[in-house]
Amino acid sequence: MNRHIYPRASSVSAEERLGVLGHSPMVLWLTGLSGSGKSTIASEVEKRLIDLGMAAYLLDGDTMRTGLCSDLGFSAEDRAENIRRLTEAAYLLADSGLIVLVSAISPTRACRDAARERISPRCDFVEIYVSAPLEVCEARDVKGLYKKARAGEIAEFTGITSPYEPPLDPELVLDTASLSVDECASAVVAEVVRRQYLSVMVDAALRAGKEIMEVYGESDFKVELKADNSPLTIADRRSNETIVNMLKSRFPFIPILAEESSDDPARHVSPRCFIVDPLDGTKEFIKRNGEFTVNIALAYKGTPIAGVVYVPVTGDLYFGVKGGGAYLRGADGKTERLQVSGRTNGLVVMRSRSHADPREEELLEKYKSRIARTISSGSSIKGCKVAAGEADVYIRFGPTMEWDTAAMQCICEAAGAIVRQTDATPLTYNRKNPKNEIGFYIINRLENDFVNPNNGAVANAPKEYGSDE
Ligand code: ADX
Repeated sequence: MNRHIYPRASSVSAEERLGVLGHSPMVLWLTGLSGSGKSTIASEVEKRLIDLGMAAYLLDGDTMRTGLCSDLGFSAEDRAENIRRLTEAAYLLADSGLIVLVSAISPTRACRDAARERISPRCDFVEIYVSAPLEVCEARDVKGLYKKARAGEIAEFTGITSPYEPPLDPELVLDTASLSVDECASAVVAEVVRRQYLSVMVDAALRAGKEIMEVYGESDFKVELKADNSPLTIADRRSNETIVNMLKSRFPFIPILAEESSDDPARHVSPRCFIVDPLDGTKEFIKRNGEFTVNIALAYKGTPIAGVVYVPVTGDLYFGVKGGGAYLRGADGKTERLQVSGRTNGLVVMRSRSHADPREEELLEKYKSRIARTISSGSSIKGCKVAAGEADVYIRFGPTMEWDTAAMQCICEAAGAIVRQTDATPLTYNRKNPKNEIGFYIINRLENDFVNPNNGAVANAPKEYGSDE
């Protein structure tokens, strides 16, 4: 390096960039053989992150080799220099605040370790091993390069005549021989959102749940009535305070709409907003039947993109990420992915324990030949049961508030459910008036839309590997 160089420190702090973008920078480094699926997955993840309001940008090995790295070939030295340049480019983009995806074979542990060493002091470095056996990549041979390499037309071809060292301890492994593009992209998006927001939301829900259980264990607690005649306990208040404080200290730039806090006008001009119900099912809490939840959602431009529903009595933790899947972590610590059922007959319908409605009765009567049974339950657990495939339909004609539905909706949609208002329009969030005036319904499949039976929608076709690598 030339000695007469004076690097300038930026006059903009990382916190200032965070406030502008609403998320922290990250580098997601995808490594694997040619044809393993890196670029297909990375470009799907890039699209999904943009959809969640995150500034993501993909640096693709092949593309970089047409510009910044166009002077390089595939010798060991040239590959090392290629990865060094990719590392520097990723570093700069991440330093500007972006979530950077790098998709490059990056065949040696040394080059990937050097990338980690350079980038990790500045932001999270997530090494993702896109794993597929050579035979599988060769059979796919999307670009026809393996055939040419076998015929001796390409020298030093990775996996054939040039080595590939699989990562020893990557943050994520995606086995593309057995997982679909959607499953792999979901795993990456879930990991990004977990690191950005969800882990704090989960911590807050767990801590609030603990405080609620302390009150639950007391022999009696005071019950007040709010202006709308709904009950309020010290557990609601403590849970609210805990969650709001934890979210505020970690995300001072994201306003919060919380049931027991006064409304924050900042949320009307913010694309992001946390939506919090510190204790959903206070009536069930008072009755001590266990059917109450802690609900925390993050909405972006009116859509819930991350949601947590915690059931303190059972220890069940439901969480969902738009484009990243829905999950249930049980009290035993095991996590399973949730998927709605495919049933169109023998349906299980969730019903409110405390709110009956004649319109709901009418529909259940009309469709009774397709309904196997109904289950009454309190709180957002009802929606979570649909997400988990244990139930199929949940209809609620009466009014609710945004905090009653936001987290549950995110989990349901991430599990493949359809959530609508009773007039078939989308149920959106961070509205001026946070009341869900006209009710909503959650169904596992369009065929089970009892409320608007003629409202169809077109399902997205699944993507295949190698379509644009
Ligand atoms: S790396 O090894 O330096 O990380 P990089 O990801 O940039 O490689 O480029 C790999 C891409 O270049 C492959 O996806 C393939 O399309 C193309 N390519 C051309 N020649 C080779 C080769 N000898 N080995 C591997 N890939 C090659």
